[in-house]
Amino acid sequence: MTKRALNSGWIGKTFDDFLMRPQMGINETRQGISLRSSLARSLKLELPIISSNMDSVTGARMAEAIALEGGLGVIHRGQSIERQVTKVTEVKRSYSAVIENPHRLPVGATIREAKRFARQRKITGILIETASGSGILAGLLSNRDIPWTGDINHRKVEDFMTPVEKLHTHSPDIKVEDAEKVLFEKRIERLPLVDNENRIHGLITRKDVRYLRERPFASKDDKGHLLVAAAIGARGDYVERAHALLEAGADCFFIDIAHGHSTIMQEAVETMRKEHGDVPLLCGNVATYEGAQFMKDIGADAIKVGVGPGRGCRTRLETSAGVPQLQAIREAWCAVGDEIPIIADGGVRHDKDIFMALICGASTVMLGSALSGTDEAPGRVIEDPATHTKKKMYRGMTSPEAVLESLYDEEDADTIDDALQTPAEGQEFQVAYKGGVRDILHRIRGHLRSGVSYSGEISLENTRHKILPEPLDYLVPLSESSRRESYER
Ligand code: XMP
Repeated sequence: MTKRALNSGWIGKTFDDFLMRPQMGINETRQGISLRSSLARSLKLELPIISSNMDSVTGARMAEAIALEGGLGVIHRGQSIERQVTKVTEVKRSYSAVIENPHRLPVGATIREAKRFARQRKITGILIETASGSGILAGLLSNRDIPWTGDINHRKVEDFMTPVEKLHTHSPDIKVEDAEKVLFEKRIERLPLVDNENRIHGLITRKDVRYLRERPFASKDDKGHLLVAAAIGARGDYVERAHALLEAGADCFFIDIAHGHSTIMQEAVETMRKEHGDVPLLCGNVATYEGAQFMKDIGADAIKVGVGPGRGCRTRLETSAGVPQLQAIREAWCAVGDEIPIIADGGVRHDKDIFMALICGASTVMLGSALSGTDEAPGRVIEDPATHTKKKMYRGMTSPEAVLESLYDEEDADTIDDALQTPAEGQEFQVAYKGGVRDILHRIRGHLRSGVSYSGEISLENTRHKILPEPLDYLVPLSESSRRESYER
């Protein structure tokens, strides 16, 4: 579609400017409505929701929770490479049917070491090997094996572990369904996979198998591990960062810079292609027809759209740069159509905004503040002593607070200088504590399914197919008074 074809009805428009005209419903129940959508050229999600790469939104816990529900988490880059790698590793190891390289300690380790080891890795059972690095199973130490009382911290793990002779183990070729049976019949939590010489090949846990069974929509790679993405930026250490994250199992990269329609982005994509071949590169942010076309020309696998709509963002206030978010999404779709998936990033305040973004051009929607304040978002719950209400912090990644924290691990003086010289375009504030993110994701899933049903279709894919060529045929523009009638409650 040419830029001329962009209807003037989109100019200046954002989420609160339209309602969708209801179509004849054809669903008896909304439960089975598919929300499957494209994340990048080669990746699909069952829930088209991505958690923002922000330090107050996505750490390992958020990434795990959202992938279990069919979405995707993007681990932020405002931290050292090591810390980011640890988080990606944590997600890749969690809830996988088979843990291929389980954590292990040698028989000579002390109980104190074992407790710290388990705490740091958030695990409740440790495989014990005959000697450090031998890879030969000697036993299993679980929380239940360690007495609560007595001075035992200096004692060796071999005094408390269940030795291999008494353990239920299996050969590595076992199918997950058969492993489930063994776990149930033997009433055990963990099944180590070993060969004839007790060499460790993997571990299957009851918790992981149960979780995956309960969540058939989880976002998984072809080995059954949860999907996780990582942000890398386009300057400084991004190539080294990408290399380490890829080793840790990151499934795709977000090359995320404030002004993605730029030579810096072009150079970064070219470099990444040279270094890492066809790993999916999801690039942004842009907010215009030309910006999206540029992303297509440089070979992005998905285009992240949004300049300034984010709640923690001050870009429009400080620079006057930006495009109203629904207009930006539509401009991007008119430039690339369905050839390259569009990620709508920022500005979502209500679930209806997600649906509106999806029927105007986006394939997936990135959420920051909407997922902040949850148990899974990094940071502590703060109790306001005056009102006894619970809060958590939410902040833009270029807020002074986030920038300062990101510099803790930084050693390069130029990078520190550069960061401190750049004026802030983000801000920090408190948001209400919201409990578990799973409930929020369930609510969003339900509302999206209802949206599809009101559009008279049985899947999000069909809805988009019907509406995307000419959304204005299906939208009702709102006046001030109809906006009040719709949203003021
Ligand atoms: P919401 O509205 O979902 O927006 O909270 C999340 C998105 O906001 C962007 N973001 C920023 N933009 N300065 C900005 O200009 C910042 O400091 C900043 N921090 C986050 C980002 O795209 C995120 O996904």
